[in-house]
Amino acid sequence: MEIAKLIEIAHQAREKAYCPYSHFAVGAVLVSRAGHIYTGANVENASYGLTVCAERAAIIKAVNAGDLELEAICLAGSDKGYTYPCGACLQVMAEFAPHLKVIVTDSSGNYREHQLKDLLPFQFQLDLEE
Ligand code: THU
Repeated sequence: MEIAKLIEIAHQAREKAYCPYSHFAVGAVLVSRAGHIYTGANVENASYGLTVCAERAAIIKAVNAGDLELEAICLAGSDKGYTYPCGACLQVMAEFAPHLKVIVTDSSGNYREHQLKDLLPFQFQLDLEE
């Protein structure tokens, strides 16, 4: 899918954000190898720490659909500048898609492409083998 289309879908997803506390809406769109897309927007809570970020909302949809081969995620935030994923979301991306492409946008329609490995070079991994 073209990046311009992904950015448009991320902006549409952002409209569904529930963010009465921060007023910072984020939209995300995740693309799988099979070509399916999964959108997400942040969902806040009066108990602030329970907030779910847009990226994690989208990843949960994909995983629950059984679509685990994830290729790219594109984000649209509320800042004029680029909105980058938080550290918690980077770690959740790493669980399912260590080679994910991460596309961040600003409010003027500019974008940057990164590799998840560059944003989170030392991913936590749980090795339970003795
Ligand atoms: N937020 C996201 O949805 N994704 C991120 O990667 C960073 C932050 C949301 C959480 C909260 O609802 C709002 O942005 C302000 O922190």
